[in-house]
Amino acid sequence: MNILLTGGSGDLGQILCSRLLAMGHTPIVIDVRLPEQINPDVGYFDASILDREALHLAMQDCGMVVHIAAWHGIHEYRQERDAYEFWDLNVTGTFNVFEAAAREGIKEMVFISSTSVDDQNGLYGHTKVLGEKIAGMYADRHDMNVITLRPRAFIPPWNKAVYRDYLEWARWFWSGAVHIEDVAEAVCLSVEKLASRERLPAPLTLVVDGAYEYTDEELANWDIEGAGSTFKRHYPQYYALALTNDLDPAEKPHKLDISATTEAIGYKPKFSLGSLLKELAKYGPDGPPPPL
Ligand SMILES: NC(=O)c1ccc[n+]([C@@H]2O[C@H](COP(=O)([O-])OP(=O)(O)OC[C@H]3O[C@@H](n4cnc5c(N)ncnc54)[C@H](O)[C@@H]3O)[C@@H](O)[C@H]2O)c1
Repeated sequence: MNILLTGGSGDLGQILCSRLLAMGHTPIVIDVRLPEQINPDVGYFDASILDREALHLAMQDCGMVVHIAAWHGIHEYRQERDAYEFWDLNVTGTFNVFEAAAREGIKEMVFISSTSVDDQNGLYGHTKVLGEKIAGMYADRHDMNVITLRPRAFIPPWNKAVYRDYLEWARWFWSGAVHIEDVAEAVCLSVEKLASRERLPAPLTLVVDGAYEYTDEELANWDIEGAGSTFKRHYPQYYALALTNDLDPAEKPHKLDISATTEAIGYKPKFSLGSLLKELAKYGPDGPPPPL
């Protein structure tokens, strides 16, 4: 099936292109920039989702849309984009994508939202709340099957515009996070579910978090045997490595409830603190080479 990826030249879109191809689909990207590496098996529209004509053209022959394009947390945090720009891309852009899909008869939609919808003071979060409302409205009015994913932050370690090196990323990941590969997996599982064309009884809104070696009980009784004791129980071989790299074994990760996501699409994240420690031990502060 041809699947349109809005913002498909970005970090998530690039991983999805490879994965969707491996699943036998044809990704079609609409983005205001082309990716560094052009894949001959992917279709590209060098255009904005604010250009309604281009959006309709890009949707021709598509059976599904994964709507990714948005300004996100980093653009608000660094004050790179203002409220008008957030509104234009995240709200008007989302409306354009859903309206064009409705007019083109596309019924299957994945909308990438964010856990930032819970940030009551944030500009970004507010535009995602509005985006979710638009998605829900189109599901109702146009009989669309919509899966909305709410990942927590997932900027990958190889994004050098954000992380100097793997260690800087690791320090951020330390307190609980999700790896971009797990987010891509959640999108692919959503695509698979929607591709079956089975009618969803209601639109799904699913939180996407990473994997944890710590049990809920351990998190509830964190370090009951002394600072760093829970960490030491799971990763004794990495205790010294953590200290050397300024990663605090006593810091308690914040884990999100993904039980609904597992139940709805079979999502089981793979990348955990254990995975991070293994990569740090193997590759050092530069981390593993980025995927092609
Ligand atoms: N990265 C995170 O930590 C994170 C966390 C939660 C949710 N999200 C959501 O995931 C999605 C994107 O994630 P990402 O990490 O791949 O971001 P990214 O910034 O790497 O990619 C976004 C892409 O959108 C494109 N774009 C910008 N304006 C456009 C326009 N007018 N028309 C078409 N394309 C346009 C950009 O060129 C870019 O390629 C967003 O919806 C974001 O809100 C991201």
